[in-house]
Amino acid sequence: MTQVVIISGGGTGIGRAAAEHFAQQGDQVVILGRRGALLEQAAQAIGGRFPQAPPVIALQADLAAPDQVERVRDVLRARFDAIDVIVNAAGRHVLRQVPAETYADGLAGVARRWTDNFRLNTLSAVLLTEALADQLRAPGGRILFLSSIAAYRGSGQGCYGAAKAALHPYSQDLAKALGPRGITVNVIAPGYVQDTGFFGSALSPAQRDSKAAEAMTLRAGTPQDIAATIGWLASPGAAHVTAQIVQVNGGAERGR
Ligand SMILES: NC(=O)c1ccc[n+]([C@@H]2O[C@H](COP(=O)([O-])OP(=O)(O)OC[C@H]3O[C@@H](n4cnc5c(N)ncnc54)[C@H](OP(=O)(O)O)[C@@H]3O)[C@@H](O)[C@H]2O)c1
Repeated sequence: MTQVVIISGGGTGIGRAAAEHFAQQGDQVVILGRRGALLEQAAQAIGGRFPQAPPVIALQADLAAPDQVERVRDVLRARFDAIDVIVNAAGRHVLRQVPAETYADGLAGVARRWTDNFRLNTLSAVLLTEALADQLRAPGGRILFLSSIAAYRGSGQGCYGAAKAALHPYSQDLAKALGPRGITVNVIAPGYVQDTGFFGSALSPAQRDSKAAEAMTLRAGTPQDIAATIGWLASPGAAHVTAQIVQVNGGAERGR
């Protein structure tokens, strides 16, 4: 059966790999993000690789803005009878790839960096999920969140890991609320994943090697590693898996 799969952050990195996973299965994929041209390019490229799937739909939206999420909800409601899978991959560490002085403004800077991380990582996922939950197929619907190893051990200044950790209790409450309808809710917490926009070109080769060496497997994660776990949690075989946080980090969280 062709599933309808909504992927925030589906234009790049992990979300893009997830989009390719579902397109390869012949699913109808919808990708969301703020950069419209990039999304369109990704949709075309995925369609070119997997012509057996329905054309990928690209919707531009800032998912931390309630009115823009409402617009997404209305477009999807008009287009589809039901949604099978929501993958909340949109997110970002706001301290990455910005000049150091961006948040160097005393307590005002502290407040901005915590608020910005919360908006991009927590609110973007919560708003999309709240907007679409009523449209999920029942039974069978799936909600997935992208957390991070930072939710367990921090990432330098607390604000990114805290914003990701906020998704954990939210997912548990949702799993309880939606379980009776046959909908599962799970979180994937990756460690270092290479080849995405998250770090971009910010890491030196030595920093990349050092991050990869944290894993017991002595390698970096790939977007495809994470997409494979997303695909499993969205599959019929994972129908009785809910309220879980699945760490995909080569054992890095336990330390070597
Ligand atoms: N790479 C890692 O090492 C790593 C590790 C742990 C967790 N994660 C998490 O995994 C997820 C995917 O990250 P990635 O590594 O694949 O990085 P990425 O390539 O930068 O992907 C993040 C995506 O989120 C979108 N996005 C960000 N804010 C948004 C917003 N407000 N509204 C709509 N879309 C938004 C971005 O597109 P636009 O900029 O066009 O909006 C981008 O496509 C993120 O949640 C990240 O925190 C990554």
